[in-house]
Amino acid sequence: MKHTTIDDCKLIDLRKISDPRGNLTPVEGAQDIPFDIKRVYYLYDVPSGQSRGGHAHKELQQLIVAANGSFTITLHDGQNKRSYTLNRPYQGLLIVPGIWRVLDDFSSGAVLLCLASEHYEEADYIRNYREFKKYKR
Ligand code: TYD
Repeated sequence: MKHTTIDDCKLIDLRKISDPRGNLTPVEGAQDIPFDIKRVYYLYDVPSGQSRGGHAHKELQQLIVAANGSFTITLHDGQNKRSYTLNRPYQGLLIVPGIWRVLDDFSSGAVLLCLASEHYEEADYIRNYREFKKYKR
């Protein structure tokens, strides 16, 4: 999807079921988020100062949650950019297709949880920023 912008991405407040035994946040595909979940992955043990991401997807949508700790996600649509700091396990950032993202400023112990709308497919990635700019034109 070429014509998306960073305004199509948004923070989603997830439910938080508070409990003296420990809190719980459920995420139901197609209910709490606008897609069915085909894949889950998580990033952890990110060394201080490292960055991840640096790509866009053509079709995949995802919800990114800081399951622990914090990190910054910078979104770029070829024209505008916006950064979000995620630091609550009951808040997710919805990233639509066609958005370049960079993830950095990982705190010690940060765990990034990603719920994705598609299985892993390298052909869905745009990994070159110049190619991304061309794709968005
Ligand atoms: P990549 O998506 O490039 O990581 P990031 O954008 O977070 O820096 O993935 C890194 C490597 O992991 C790449 O070789 C592909 C592999 N990978 C999978 O095999 N399955 C997956 O679901 C993901 C996300 C990555």
